[in-house]
Amino acid sequence: MNGKRILLIVSGGIAAYKALELVRLLNREGASVRAVMTDSAKSFVTPLSLGVLTGDRVFGDMLDATEEQEIGHIQLSRDADLVLVCPATANIMAKAANGIADDLATTLLLATDKRVLFVPAMNVRMWHHSATQRNLATLRADGALVMEPDEGAMACGEWGAGRLPEPPEILARVRQVLAQEAGALPLPGEGRPLAGRRAIVTAGPTHEPIDPVRYIANRSSGRQGFAIAGALAAAGADVTLVAGPVSLSAPPGVRRVDVQTAREMQAAVEAALPADIAVMVAAVADWRAASDAKQKIKKDGTAPASLPLAENPDILAHISTHDRRPALVIGFAAETENVVEHAAAKLARKGCDWIVANDVSGDVMGGSVNRVHIVTSDGVEEWPDLPKEEVARRLAARISETLT
Ligand code: CTP
Repeated sequence: MNGKRILLIVSGGIAAYKALELVRLLNREGASVRAVMTDSAKSFVTPLSLGVLTGDRVFGDMLDATEEQEIGHIQLSRDADLVLVCPATANIMAKAANGIADDLATTLLLATDKRVLFVPAMNVRMWHHSATQRNLATLRADGALVMEPDEGAMACGEWGAGRLPEPPEILARVRQVLAQEAGALPLPGEGRPLAGRRAIVTAGPTHEPIDPVRYIANRSSGRQGFAIAGALAAAGADVTLVAGPVSLSAPPGVRRVDVQTAREMQAAVEAALPADIAVMVAAVADWRAASDAKQKIKKDGTAPASLPLAENPDILAHISTHDRRPALVIGFAAETENVVEHAAAKLARKGCDWIVANDVSGDVMGGSVNRVHIVTSDGVEEWPDLPKEEVARRLAARISETLT
């Protein structure tokens, strides 16, 4: 990130204080940050503290004659390599989606010719509101990037999606976006080591219908799998991402195939063969309802007392023994105890080359950080707690080393 210029727009929200930590991290990687604050952001952090960290004055007033003479606001938006809106409130995204420019921050968003990355933070109901979701879709259709917020306890006492991702995770995303904007890899100096390689990644949960309105599912968010698909694509691979039902947008340059059930996922994986790399990250439902009722099961006394189940195909095991088996087959193992032992057993049972063993005893599912071990026939590598984006980047680098 050395020498990259970030224009950071801070809008008002309780998470604004995390922008300070983010500036520190960006500076540490050699990026320079110029900051703009909305009026409401100033109620949460002071321009002084942000100015001290950026080593520059903090812009805020569009009608300031001195500012305008020294550096016009259009210029401010053009001098950057990336415009980062963090935290991005529902309000600033609504304005940006509709082309409203009624202060310096929103004017810059309308005037910029650079990529804009929004990092939303807001109350869970505001996040799920159809107006916000509509605005997000508009922003994405206009070419902006929007990070998914974290799930968890909110400052207002509610629980759900809407928390600002942790600064290291935002940093990893900024690094990835800057690398993509420069047409390069997120691994400086290493070229595009997976160019010419084909990869299949599965991600998310599967939904197994019980009747037309009910299904069996699990808590997988798909974030780790989507991040891996993005990291492999950034490393030059031609990536097919087979995604169960998740509310994530596909990383740039990735071919996405949406599926619902394990059997559909298996068919989509088969259809994507041949490939050099398969990374099976999906939390595939192990069982489905033995019969999928064509009509809604009614609570009229005839409903079954128990739900008969049938076992789903094991996609990872199937691909590992396939006659067109990819050269490198990687599975994930979500474990709550004896992580390495269970993963080693899974490696042998499923016939894959590596297992990325995931300790899910904390809040990994739906959260932003992962602690993994890489288990291979050669031994076990322990990785520290890392943002899911960083796990993805390291895994892509590790795959590149192995295949080249
Ligand atoms: N997997 C798969 N198809 C299935 C079940 C799992 O492809 N029907 C893959 C997952 O994508 C993951 C790996 O297998 O890469 C391990 O998944 P996990 O659920 O941890 O393993 P299980 O085989 O279900 O074992 P258990 O639930 O007993 O731990």
